[in-house]
Amino acid sequence: MIVCICKRVSDREIRRLVDEGATSLADIRKETELGTQCGKCACEARRIVRELNDH
Ligand code: FES
Repeated sequence: MIVCICKRVSDREIRRLVDEGATSLADIRKETELGTQCGKCACEARRIVRELNDH
């Protein structure tokens, strides 16, 4: 599933980055530019990062 349409970042990509040590939306943004265009994906992306970090 694509989370960030503008930058074409999928939930799978986010999961991979969390597995590699990303702990925040800022970390994901640094690697993928997620959320740097329209910003609509930020809430959902943050939720996914939190959820993955809780597990
Ligand atoms: Fe992520 Fe637009 S959907 S910046």
